[in-house]
Amino acid sequence: MTRSYVDCMVIENKEISANIFDMRLKCPSIASAAQIGQFITLYPPSEKNLMPRPFSVCDANKKTGALRIIYEVKGAGTKLFSKLAPRETIKASGPMGNGYKINQKDNIAIIGGGLGIPPLLWLTKSIVEQNVNSSLDVFLGYKDKAFLAEEFIKIKSGYNDVSVYVASESGAAPFRGNVVERAKSLGKKYDAIYSCGPKPALKAVVEYAKSMGAPSYISLEEKMACGFGACYGCAVRIKSDNQESLYKRVCKDGPVFEGERAIFDD
Ligand code: FES
Repeated sequence: MTRSYVDCMVIENKEISANIFDMRLKCPSIASAAQIGQFITLYPPSEKNLMPRPFSVCDANKKTGALRIIYEVKGAGTKLFSKLAPRETIKASGPMGNGYKINQKDNIAIIGGGLGIPPLLWLTKSIVEQNVNSSLDVFLGYKDKAFLAEEFIKIKSGYNDVSVYVASESGAAPFRGNVVERAKSLGKKYDAIYSCGPKPALKAVVEYAKSMGAPSYISLEEKMACGFGACYGCAVRIKSDNQESLYKRVCKDGPVFEGERAIFDD
C-alpha cells in the first residue's frame, strides 16, 4: 500500500506563541474533503526522506481551498516546516481518519488541552453554525500562555450561549490548574463532551462524562509511522459492543472514539 500526496502552496506560516506556528495552505483537494477532527500528514522539505508528520486540521475552507494547521516545533521535521515562506510548496496527504460526529444535545462541553485545542476551533464554529445545542461551554487548558483562545472568544451566535474558560498550569490564566478541574469547578451537568488533548486529560474527561451519564467523544493521539492504516504502529485498545478489548488504529479507525470505549493503558 502506498500513500498519494499533493503539492500545497503555503499561504502563511507564522509563530503565534513560543514555538507554536499557524500555517495556512492552499490545498483544494484536501480542504474540500476534510471533516472536523480528521488529520493530514505533511512531508518535511528535506533531501533526507524524513517521515511525514500528522497534524489535525484546525480549519478547512471548501470554497477557497485553504487549510489551516497549528503545530509545535519539536524536532528536525517541524523545524523545517517553520522555515517555509509564503508561495513555497509542501507535500501533503489526506484528509485521514474519522472525525467528530455532531449530535443534537442541549448542553455541550468542549474540553481541549495544549496542541489538542486547534481541531476544537473548527468543531466549536460548526456546532454554533448548526445550532444543535442550547448552551456551549468551551474549556481550554494550557501549560503556560494561551494561544487561539481569542478566536474561540470571538465566536458569536445569535441564538446560543457560548462561554469560554481558560486554565493554565503555570498561572498565566486566572484559573491555575488543569482544564478538567476548570470544567468541574462550574458544577454544571452536560449532555455531551467533546475533547482533544493529552491522554491524562482525556482519561479525566471520560471519567467526568461518565459521572454525569453523558457520552464523550475523544480524539486520541499516538505516534504514527505509515499514517494510513498499514503498519498498526498506532494501535490502541478499544472496547467492542460486547466489551471485548480490540486493537484499533488511531490513524484509520480514529482518531475520534467514543470515550466510554477507550481503554487507557497506564
Ligand atoms: Fe500505521 Fe496507523 S500509523 S497503522
